[in-house]
Amino acid sequence: MSQQTPTVQQTTASVVVDPAVVVAPVNRRIFGSFVEHLGRCVYDGIYEPGHPTADADGFRGDVVELVKELGTSTIRYPGGNFVSGYRWEDGVGPREDRPVRRDLAWHSLETNQVGVDEFAKWCKLTDSEMMMAVNLGTRGVLEALDLLEYTNHPSGTALSDQRVANGAPEPYGIRMWCLGNEMDGPWQVGAMSADDYGKLAARTASAMKMVDPKLELVVCGSSSSSMPTFGDWERTVLEHSFDSVDYISCHAYYQEREGDLGSFLASSLNMEYFIRTVVAAADHVQHKRHSDKQIMLSFDEWNVWYLDEWNAIEGTIEEWAYAPRLIEDVYSVADAVVFGNLLLTLLKHSDRVGSASLAQLVNVIAPIMTEPGGEAWRQTTFFPFSVTSRLASGVVLAPRIDVGSYATKVHGDAPLVDSVATYDAEAGAAAVFLVNRSQDEAIAVRVDVSALGVTTVAEANGIHDEDVYAKNTIDDRERVGLVANESAVLTDGVLTITLPPVSWTAVGLSA
Ligand code: AHR
Repeated sequence: MSQQTPTVQQTTASVVVDPAVVVAPVNRRIFGSFVEHLGRCVYDGIYEPGHPTADADGFRGDVVELVKELGTSTIRYPGGNFVSGYRWEDGVGPREDRPVRRDLAWHSLETNQVGVDEFAKWCKLTDSEMMMAVNLGTRGVLEALDLLEYTNHPSGTALSDQRVANGAPEPYGIRMWCLGNEMDGPWQVGAMSADDYGKLAARTASAMKMVDPKLELVVCGSSSSSMPTFGDWERTVLEHSFDSVDYISCHAYYQEREGDLGSFLASSLNMEYFIRTVVAAADHVQHKRHSDKQIMLSFDEWNVWYLDEWNAIEGTIEEWAYAPRLIEDVYSVADAVVFGNLLLTLLKHSDRVGSASLAQLVNVIAPIMTEPGGEAWRQTTFFPFSVTSRLASGVVLAPRIDVGSYATKVHGDAPLVDSVATYDAEAGAAAVFLVNRSQDEAIAVRVDVSALGVTTVAEANGIHDEDVYAKNTIDDRERVGLVANESAVLTDGVLTITLPPVSWTAVGLSA
């Protein structure tokens, strides 16, 4: 019996890429990620002594290779909620002397077998920049200064000499520092009001800048745009800390709810709203102070996360376990399309988003999964990230997009197609990233790239599947991968390409 083919209605869109409409240079820090002491991100994730691919320090070589292929830049560490109860001193020195503690954020056991020195080594292996968070939940200015001395002072002081004695003669030179984590969230150990946090962050930041004015400090913004204090929190916190901080953080997670795929596919509209609101709050404080200093956004947690599912089972998880399987979402094609759209949105706003961290990197809401003693593999979300990170270079261009829209329950009318482009004049290369949010229509797109001087389609790949809920699972690790889009043709400066329904596509163009 032959299967009935669903009717696919073809529609069109026009995109114009103008090299004069530059948003900002491509900033590698947009391709950051996040390693938290949570579940199996560190233990049995990046670190598993005894694994067949592990090196002498216990780092899994297969994970290192996948992280390099993913193309991440800055890695935020060690949390997340975890940092608000963390004593960094527990994680340095001889491993056998390190204490085992309770981690209140995730109700797990923390063995401290990985700490800042191990993380620094791992960052070297993966060619990543370290981004460190200090604990402002249960600790304060002194402990932040101590950690700064330990990591960044060359030698000749109590704590820097301790680092040297622990096997790291060179300072780590960490530039980016987060001043706590999600301090507005009632779930945060030591959560506080915007006024209290703003004052503490300001004191910590100015003390850290006394040590090194070149540090780049991130003050906590809201933990989501649905917090009742969203907007006002940012304004209050910056009114206290404006002079000594450089970034304000944004955190956003998206999920499909109640089968409403249409709204889910338009999630990046919420990210746009989030960015606009935080920029407005930051600029309000700037203008009130008649300052020419512009606060940038550090979007240091973003992803698809089925948070409702986690909230429903959180209380039932075995407590005080070592490396428990927590928040190991398995991502579908639709998730990857939304994810690719979120990354595209961050690039589009890179005039104000100066840093971003995909939360997280391994096992926990992650593009990379591992089994203890076994394989490591790529989730569907791995592909939009790795391809975008590899192709984006030069400057970000905001294309003009003419396309129809569709109605969503959550975000109002959403354009059917979203796009961003990058252009590297020196290399004679460009890239166009495209998303088709339609659930039933392939869209024929005409992309005018005539002003870029490119002549060849070097590659056109994307994420798409007849089954939008297809996933890579432990039993079928390569079910979903990149699919070549054979329809891409470049003639006389015009790229024509047909985007399948629910798809994310990247086209690399060369001169
Ligand atoms: O990324 C998982 C958690 O989400 C982080 O620990 C926290 O900052 C956020 O709520």
